[in-house]
Amino acid sequence: MEKERVVLAYSGGLDTSVCLKWLMVEKNLDVIAITGNVGQDEKDLAEIKQKALDLGCIAADAVDMRDEYAADFLTYAIKANGLYENQYPLLSALSRPLLSKYMVEIAHQYGAKYIAHGCTGKGNDQVRFETSIRALDPSITILAPVREWDLHSRDDEMEWARANGVPVPTTNKKPYSIDDNLWGRAIECGVLENPWNEPPDDIWTMTAEVNDAPDEPESVEIAFEAGVPVALDGQEIGLVDLIIKLNQIAGKHGFGRLDMIENRLVGVKSRECYETPAASTIIKAHKALETICLDRETMHFKHVVEQQWATCVYYGQWYSQLKNSLDAFCQETQKFVTGTVRLRFHKGNCTVTGLKSDYSLYDYGLASYSADDTFDHAAAKGFIDLSSLPFVVWSGKQGPASC
Ligand code: ARG
Repeated sequence: MEKERVVLAYSGGLDTSVCLKWLMVEKNLDVIAITGNVGQDEKDLAEIKQKALDLGCIAADAVDMRDEYAADFLTYAIKANGLYENQYPLLSALSRPLLSKYMVEIAHQYGAKYIAHGCTGKGNDQVRFETSIRALDPSITILAPVREWDLHSRDDEMEWARANGVPVPTTNKKPYSIDDNLWGRAIECGVLENPWNEPPDDIWTMTAEVNDAPDEPESVEIAFEAGVPVALDGQEIGLVDLIIKLNQIAGKHGFGRLDMIENRLVGVKSRECYETPAASTIIKAHKALETICLDRETMHFKHVVEQQWATCVYYGQWYSQLKNSLDAFCQETQKFVTGTVRLRFHKGNCTVTGLKSDYSLYDYGLASYSADDTFDHAAAKGFIDLSSLPFVVWSGKQGPASC
């Protein structure tokens, strides 16, 4: 009898390799292993694919998702200045819905009834995968081997791997859990689990230590069109290449490190370190451009929308009505967010040093204190009389609202 099929999100690491074999051995399933290239530092995708085939899956594929990731996910994150808890650029949260979309499509192609992932029961990524998959096709059954098996320690897992012919890494891997893609790199676990411990130097790979960063500052110019970066230093460039370049430049100057305690969706506070040189630079530049291109009320309200957008995406609700509606608002605000931002990197810092836009709402005559002043000073009196009226009325009734 034909076996049922499962599509597995496969990274090539020990966990997902054990998952692959476990689905075959314990669940008697035919496995289709899918690896998404979202710009991670993983060297050789052909090698990962071969490894999956060697483990016995019936099909394996490494799909280049980078352009789609940039166009359909990162542009939205840029327009929304997406930062969870005001800091984290959401690199893991943005890649999971894209991977999920591919897994659902591939499950349909292969007539697979199941989709599996290698996430633990404690993190956000399981929620993101499963919420996305269920939103896209609720008829698919999700398997989460790591949540289900009784391999409780890494030693248990290695032992099971050896007994079942899964190659076990010989080098002692660094004790961190790492996830990376174009939008940055997340590092957790090991000594980082104690918030009093300073992050050891060896966790950082994309950003230089400030002491090792060049003594000379370096400036770049990023041009945006309707909220999306389109050129670097006057040269038109695709978003993927722009991100790769900015990761190098900003990283070399030691900009883009984050060390934070973050509120996970599953109720746990966790210590997370991130390196996001390009993401942090682009969002900084985009926010700066918005200060001249958005009107005051829109900008203030957009801050509220941005918080909600980031929370929604962090919670795994990419394919939701709320997320689409927030995107629609952000999209409308970006019509005139076209212009150029100059930034200077130096010793771990990134400073905005210039802004220009044909749509700039900055009006020299209104702003200037020089002879060019066009502002109607006399009009200010009536404005203040009326805008302060509620406080005058209050004060007359209840006395001054002092503390
Ligand atoms: N805390 C981040 C998030 O939930 C990153 C998780 C990344 N996973 C990892 N294995 N380090 O989006």
